[in-house]
Amino acid sequence: MCGIIGVVGSTETLATLLEGLQRLEYRGYDSAGIALVHAGHTWRARTAAGTESVAALRVECEGAPQDYRSGIGHTRWATHGAPEAVNAHPHLDCSGHVAIIHNGIIENHSELREILTGRGHVFTSVTDSEVVAHLVEELRGRGLELLDAVRHALLEVRGAFAIAVMDATEPDVIVAARRISPLVVGTAPGVSYLASDVPAILDRATAFYAVNDDEVVRLGPEGFRAVDLEGAPVRLRQLQIDWDLETAEKGGYDDFMSKEIAEQPHAVYATLLDRRRRDGSIVFDELRISDEELRDVKRVVLVACGTSNHAAQVAKYAIERWARLSVEVDIASEYRYRDPIVEIGTLVIGVSQSGETIDTIQATREAQRRGARVVAISNIVDSSLAREADAVLYTRAGLEVSVASTKAFVAQVAALELLALRLAQLRGTLAPEEIDRLLEGLHSVSGHIATSLGRRDDVAGVAAQLLDAHDYFFLGRHVGYPTALEGALKLKELTYLHAEGYAAGELKHGPLALIEPGVIVVAVTTDPVMHEKILSNVAEVKARGATVVAVATDDDERIDAVADYVLRVPATQSMFAPMIDIVPLQLLAYSLARGLGRNVDRPRNLAKTVTVE
Ligand code: M6R
Repeated sequence: MCGIIGVVGSTETLATLLEGLQRLEYRGYDSAGIALVHAGHTWRARTAAGTESVAALRVECEGAPQDYRSGIGHTRWATHGAPEAVNAHPHLDCSGHVAIIHNGIIENHSELREILTGRGHVFTSVTDSEVVAHLVEELRGRGLELLDAVRHALLEVRGAFAIAVMDATEPDVIVAARRISPLVVGTAPGVSYLASDVPAILDRATAFYAVNDDEVVRLGPEGFRAVDLEGAPVRLRQLQIDWDLETAEKGGYDDFMSKEIAEQPHAVYATLLDRRRRDGSIVFDELRISDEELRDVKRVVLVACGTSNHAAQVAKYAIERWARLSVEVDIASEYRYRDPIVEIGTLVIGVSQSGETIDTIQATREAQRRGARVVAISNIVDSSLAREADAVLYTRAGLEVSVASTKAFVAQVAALELLALRLAQLRGTLAPEEIDRLLEGLHSVSGHIATSLGRRDDVAGVAAQLLDAHDYFFLGRHVGYPTALEGALKLKELTYLHAEGYAAGELKHGPLALIEPGVIVVAVTTDPVMHEKILSNVAEVKARGATVVAVATDDDERIDAVADYVLRVPATQSMFAPMIDIVPLQLLAYSLARGLGRNVDRPRNLAKTVTVE
């Protein structure tokens, strides 16, 4: 959740750290800080100014020494300890020589703190992370070089970490390590870098390497060497990075979110590009499962969080319909702890934009431990989820910066439906001509999304009428239901207004009691089979005074009579509709949020990648 960066050997240490932190801010922005070291001296600055923390840090750093060649920086999403400067990283040991930054959670921090306090260590924050600084201090006191001190310290901690440690008495070294939380290393002549995410060091490093769990890396101006926790040498795998910095910029849009909404036709197009072989089989990005194994799958479990979970819920309908397999969708954070049943033939699909969401990774690990085969749907190449899975389908949506996920959702649905068709093909549950017809339909989605995007002004016009509303219900049936859930999530995240997503048929079992004048009901009415039923649900809420906004197909002539506002979308095969119907809902949430003066790219209390449980 937090962003970390480090550099050693640079003549532009401060600039590198501040630039990197700016790019990492989307991971967490409760506070920010840096520490620089040089020949026995540590210089530190920390600020807690919410979304302005990095800007405030820049001001704090105006008096920073310019000639220090090593430094670390951190942007924080608070877990243990309030978002105040005293809890901001880097944390120092008692001597002030050891400085650490940490992303993750040290689960046994209370007992370690008690032991260390008993030995005379003085803590200055209430964070879990600070224990590492004092553990390293103790081990340095016993004469261990920094690499070994960090290694031994980490043997004592439980939990998740991407960590970087400096010691002013060994100033040309940074030691970094990882367990669960993401960490990459970069190099350029005479300089080494580390970061939680590649964009932070993209324009500085020329080569990038992935650090795996329980690996410890010693970085110096001359390069790096890596060992495991026992001290045995390990080789880091070089990453193929083909982004440029421009992909992380806003490209002329007001914010990342509108840029990413606009990129959705391309996200779907790119995800589907060159996926089909002559024999009709689908090209995975990585495949360590045989066709026989995939054909013999007995049951599918999808695990994911947030928006990715909504994409997974769409996939349930597609896999059940097309491949005739029983499908369960689990909230990833629930899966691992409910003693899940994994029988022979269980295929688990982990869906995650970042591929670093800890709940999803822990769920797929648990499934693997119990014998399941795992397919990853990830937007980030070489993400932890992708690396650990038996097969990978990358969504090629490109870097998603806005905390609210948009283009990742449509790309995930496209990839999952492709996978559903592959399962149907292997199992012989759809005729080859039917698969061809569906694939053709899937490829036409991109154009329909573009048509929906062209109607953004209509959506903005409706949003302008709704700026005083406080309560929203989103209704849908069949795949319109996960679309409604996703529409409600977007509205919640972006506007901070109350919004619920419901299966329209469920409304009369309780929530109908909440419907009264002033409540806005957004109904996804595009499914031709369920059309009659959803119109009845709309009539039920209308009769109780709700204002109805309907997402309806261009050819729907009945909707104007029952809805107050209609957002039109092109008609398509129902299984593809979520990728098109979600567009006006994203635009509605976006326009309302802008109208209400919200920060659309960085909603309060949230972080782009959730790497803590
Ligand atoms: O990176 P992931 O897809 O695993 O992230 C899952 C959720 O944290 C994410 O979708 C979150 O709900 C977004 N803020 C939704 O807009």
